[in-house]
Amino acid sequence: MTEPAPSYSRKRVLYELYYGFRPNKPTYTPDEYPNLAGRTAIVTGANTGIGLHVAKILYEKNCDVIIVVRTAAKGEKAREEILAATPDSKGSVIIADGCDFLDLNTVKPTADKVKTALGDKPLNVIIHNAGLMARTNTGISKQGVEAMFQVNAMGPQLLQHFLNPLFLKKDSDLKRIVWVSSASHLLAFREYGINWENPGFEGVDAGQRPAAAALYGQSKAANIMQAKAWSTKNKTIVDEIECVSVSCYPGNLNTDLARDWNPLLRKIGGYLFWDVKYGAYTELYGALSPALTTKNQGAYVVPFGEVHDPREDIEAALTNGTDLKLWDLIEEKISKYF
Ligand SMILES: NC(=O)c1ccc[n+]([C@@H]2O[C@H](COP(=O)([O-])OP(=O)(O)OC[C@H]3O[C@@H](n4cnc5c(N)ncnc54)[C@H](OP(=O)(O)O)[C@@H]3O)[C@@H](O)[C@H]2O)c1
Repeated sequence: MTEPAPSYSRKRVLYELYYGFRPNKPTYTPDEYPNLAGRTAIVTGANTGIGLHVAKILYEKNCDVIIVVRTAAKGEKAREEILAATPDSKGSVIIADGCDFLDLNTVKPTADKVKTALGDKPLNVIIHNAGLMARTNTGISKQGVEAMFQVNAMGPQLLQHFLNPLFLKKDSDLKRIVWVSSASHLLAFREYGINWENPGFEGVDAGQRPAAAALYGQSKAANIMQAKAWSTKNKTIVDEIECVSVSCYPGNLNTDLARDWNPLLRKIGGYLFWDVKYGAYTELYGALSPALTTKNQGAYVVPFGEVHDPREDIEAALTNGTDLKLWDLIEEKISKYF
């Protein structure tokens, strides 16, 4: 058992929530990115929103991009859009489809597609971008787990399990993982953001579950802990290959994320939120910025490319072993799908 969670400042929570609406301008943008010819990146959820924009920029920089998507047709449409945006790129776009984190059985077959697509090339960057922010607390996965916990936290950890042997190799000087979190982690449960007894609310009727915002927040608190825990779990090789694993809150952006929200709220969001490209800059800061080194393992990147501390208890979780406890808890649940 880890120590009880330290308290956190409500004032800071409010400040960080506000910051997402009025962040500093990005300082690390595509003009500063290196040429990525010969590099390979995986972006999950790249058929739309931030992931699609990230894939476009990577391809523009001549990267070989593997887009992990649920639906083949959406993947093909996205691929065409990415190719058309930069007709003279020297990179490539390969689709690994069929990955639906609502059913953990689909993850291994998709990882096999990634392995085939990669061949013997180095794998440089992994961006765990796919995510679900449901309007209601009723969503449930094929495995009977609350939908956002499974899609946002369990699914990426399972995919990472299959990517580890492809990624953890001394074959390149660029090795990054970005676990896409959110400022919504600030709204997560009191004890390190997690409902420890039953984070997936398995067997709990929707009527007895907390509000959707707390469930989304929990899954995004998990992403912050996963970024650090993964680097600790693989410390020897991670140090050797100088890999950096960070989480990020991409910003408040106009994407499909709020697709099932009330149209009025979506309209208001349209005025307050930022263009999707800024979210891509935040994710790509995590993936490419030379300012991040192995000293930044588990850093929490905020819009549009700077490091802040997460909520105080979750920050404490990154050094007192709570992150590893969560990693192990999820690992136990997903291990039957290895
Ligand atoms: N937009 C924001 O303001 C904001 C703020 C903070 C954090 N984020 C985070 O940023 C990431 C990208 O969000 P976005 O705004 O670009 O959202 P989006 O436009 O809704 O895109 C989400 C992506 O995730 C995929 N996805 C959803 N459910 C999935 C599942 N069950 N299995 C596999 N993939 C699934 C979607 O695929 P389908 O199209 O097939 O559904 C889509 O490709 C998410 O992790 C989100 O939590 C976004």
